Amino acid sequence: MSILSGKHILLGVTGSIAAYKAADLASKLTQAGAQVDVILTSAAEKFVTPLTYQSVTGRKAYTDKDLWGDEAHVMHISLGKTADLLVIAPCTADTMAKLAHGIADNLLTVTALAATCPILIAPAMDGGMFDHPATQANLQTLQTRLVLVAGPAAGRLASGMSGVGRMLEPMDILGHIRIALGKNGKLAGKKVIVTAGGTQEAIDPVRIITNHSSGKQGYALAQAALDAGAEVTLITTPTTLTPPVGAKLINVKSVQDMLDALLKENADALIMAAAGADFRPVNVAKEKLKKRDGIPQIQLEAAPDILKTLSSLNGEKKRFKVTAGFAAESRDLLANASEKLKSKGLDLIAANDISANDAGFNVETNRITLLFANGMQDILPLMSKAEAAEKIVEHIARLLE
Ligand code: CTP
Repeated sequence: MSILSGKHILLGVTGSIAAYKAADLASKLTQAGAQVDVILTSAAEKFVTPLTYQSVTGRKAYTDKDLWGDEAHVMHISLGKTADLLVIAPCTADTMAKLAHGIADNLLTVTALAATCPILIAPAMDGGMFDHPATQANLQTLQTRLVLVAGPAAGRLASGMSGVGRMLEPMDILGHIRIALGKNGKLAGKKVIVTAGGTQEAIDPVRIITNHSSGKQGYALAQAALDAGAEVTLITTPTTLTPPVGAKLINVKSVQDMLDALLKENADALIMAAAGADFRPVNVAKEKLKKRDGIPQIQLEAAPDILKTLSSLNGEKKRFKVTAGFAAESRDLLANASEKLKSKGLDLIAANDISANDAGFNVETNRITLLFANGMQDILPLMSKAEAAEKIVEHIARLLE
């Protein structure tokens, strides 16, 4: 997660039971390479201890004692001035009210007032408290001041009731943090469409023809484009993966669905990471094929080639300024990839050797060679799909410059 590596995140924790979940957030941020400084309010200390946070961040966790300590006159200034982002999670109704009114009566609120970095809050409170006109008015005030707000979610609340007021899960807050940090990235103001997963071609209402694509590389590309500040649409077939926070999702199944979805879109860049079917049944049986009727003879026809279809619409109807594809090959990698680069009208193709057991389908790593329309090549060593995605996104940003 290079977007987080080396970043200084100030994590304010206030008095809600969700404070224990913020320890997981602090841990995730630290593991992603961020320097995390935690400030607990005295109410937060009733739920968790500074030691909880120190143990996961490896750094001192600050409390109100530090407001009145030896370094008091500079503490809140230095914390707030050096941070890339101040995250307050959980943020109680009380702290929201203080932030909205500029009240600075503890180390966290005084730091928030002195901070020059963006602020992101993850509210957590009982449903009635969140809906209260006072809280809603405070929320509005904060949003007008460009404070970023993540959540709250609907669900079971500490009171045992259900409603809107649950703090978002740490993974979701992490997604919002990535968006906040990537806002001015290389793809800021650009729209990127990513397709992901293996398409499904129906045989009957029960059976499909599909392939081994897990969607991992496509989802990693969507996340990398979000990290670079792009507005991202992810056109995905059914997968077991959690979509990145901030991506607009379009769910599809067949190649035809994916093509239809793409024909309604325009974007600066299209990254076709999906493994589209090349063949599909000529007829889709309306009823389930029964064993008693014998072994079916399934006649196949060519499925539309999405990239070729889109490239044939080039010229006035050109929908994407830069188009990137993938070449999944088990032999003659570069020759086949270079042929696809030309025949599919691509600006760049990521050639991956699916015969290697550490690259291609359903593994965490990839070994990719990027080929460009101008003949340039970039041979990437074995790396995680997230790292490969970052490299591809960097090239796309360069091609869009
Ligand atoms: N692709 C597409 N439409 C399809 C199948 C694939 O647009 N019906 C895209 C993929 O998303 C990928 C590129 O074409 O970006 C290459 O896909 P690949 O499966 O490697 O090649 P194919 O074109 O299917 O050719 P072959 O199966 O002969 O290798």
